Amino acid sequence: MPDTLTIIDNRTGKKYEMPITHDTIRAMDLRQIKVKDDDFGMMTYDPAFMNTASCISKITYIDGDKGILRYRGYPIEQLAEKSSFLETAWLLLHGELPTKAEYEQWTHDITIHTMIHENIKKLMDGFHYDAHPMGMLISTIGALSTFYRDGRDVRNPESRQKQIFRLISKMPTIAAFAYRHSQGKPYVYPDNSLSYISNFMSMLWKMTEPKYEPHPTLVKALDILFILHADHEQNCSANAMRSIGSSEIDPYSAMAGAAAALYGPLHGGANEAVLHMLDEIGTKENVPDFITKVKGGSGRLMGFGHRVYKNYDPRAKVIKRLADEVFEVTGRNPKLDIALELEKIALEDEYFIKRKLYPNVDFYSGLIYQAMGFPVEMFAVLFSIPRTVGWLAQWNEMLNDNEQKIARPRQIYLGHDTRDYVVMSKRG
Ligand code: ACO
Repeated sequence: MPDTLTIIDNRTGKKYEMPITHDTIRAMDLRQIKVKDDDFGMMTYDPAFMNTASCISKITYIDGDKGILRYRGYPIEQLAEKSSFLETAWLLLHGELPTKAEYEQWTHDITIHTMIHENIKKLMDGFHYDAHPMGMLISTIGALSTFYRDGRDVRNPESRQKQIFRLISKMPTIAAFAYRHSQGKPYVYPDNSLSYISNFMSMLWKMTEPKYEPHPTLVKALDILFILHADHEQNCSANAMRSIGSSEIDPYSAMAGAAAALYGPLHGGANEAVLHMLDEIGTKENVPDFITKVKGGSGRLMGFGHRVYKNYDPRAKVIKRLADEVFEVTGRNPKLDIALELEKIALEDEYFIKRKLYPNVDFYSGLIYQAMGFPVEMFAVLFSIPRTVGWLAQWNEMLNDNEQKIARPRQIYLGHDTRDYVVMSKRG
């Protein structure tokens, strides 16, 4: 059986044979399909990239129908159970699990870059007292490009590595400073004797005690949440990172764009939206009415549905189990009952079954974050810290891929044909 696709153009009767690789044809092969010699040639029309592979990747695999997520081949459930966030970060960036020596060096390299320049701190001081921490994070990531001008040397793998260390280590510091600013509390500088996660928690919550000692269950929970959020192949923000990065701009500027994409309520802002939705519903008894409204087209059930998963999001399963462990320490989040009721009713309802709408990663993560003491405005920030690893892995892979060029889609122009300029006095 030949691995080719035969296309007959009924406009001309011409027949074309195109190679199929990995169940895919190359869009550029379609350009030979023309009616007249001087035609541009055929394109595909794919708004929102519903069926277009924009790259070849070896980082993350998702089978949305089966509910499978793997980083570099390792099932997410195994990584959540056995790995740590920094180890998973190495895996995503390097393709293999680290040896002991590699892991120790990696942890050291990440730890020594946690400080930020004092002027970055001053810059963050300039934000309004009620600035959204995600807005502060996005702007500050972009501002890093003015401090690390060597970041523009994107064709140099050594320089890229240095920016990767900086971004992964400074993200928790900037995120914690954004949080402290929004609380009107003094910034807490990094404590490099602590682990990645414990240091983050110290920068968030340390007050006057000489050393902050986070609860080990909460450290573990945050570590697992970070593993689950580290990458998710060509999602909206990863696509932004690749697309902006394809212009060969420094990773700080590209990552500010990626973080901005994540901020939207249809992407990383969804867990914030879930909490607002649960507040709006108020009590378990109001759930059926709310579902009826959603089915009637008024709003969406936030934290449900996914472009790729048409089955239970495997991350949501891990998070649901994790919630019980966290609530044992923090006390149960009262909104959990509303969430469980919503899930139960939605999973039995024809509307949601027909559309294959299942809980996604954001349905329960917000409840955990809230129980841990995070305000909802911090949720997207919490997502951005681990996703930094995914963005950087995708960016690095893109720059190492000889087939990639500046990202530049085509369009179908349906606007006016050429027409002459009309002076203002003659316009109707
Ligand atoms: N609640 C109710 N109906 C929904 C929902 C939802 N959460 N999601 C999709 N639908 C319905 C749509 O109305 C549509 O119905 P129709 O066929 O009658 O018109 C159908 O399901 C298909 O929806 P699309 O919008 O075409 O699905 P798409 O793949 O474009 O959207 C998305 C995916 C954006 C995630 C969507 O499911 C959604 O808005 N969910 C809520 C927001 C959310 O939780 N986002 C987090 C995603 S995970 C992440 O980014 C980390």
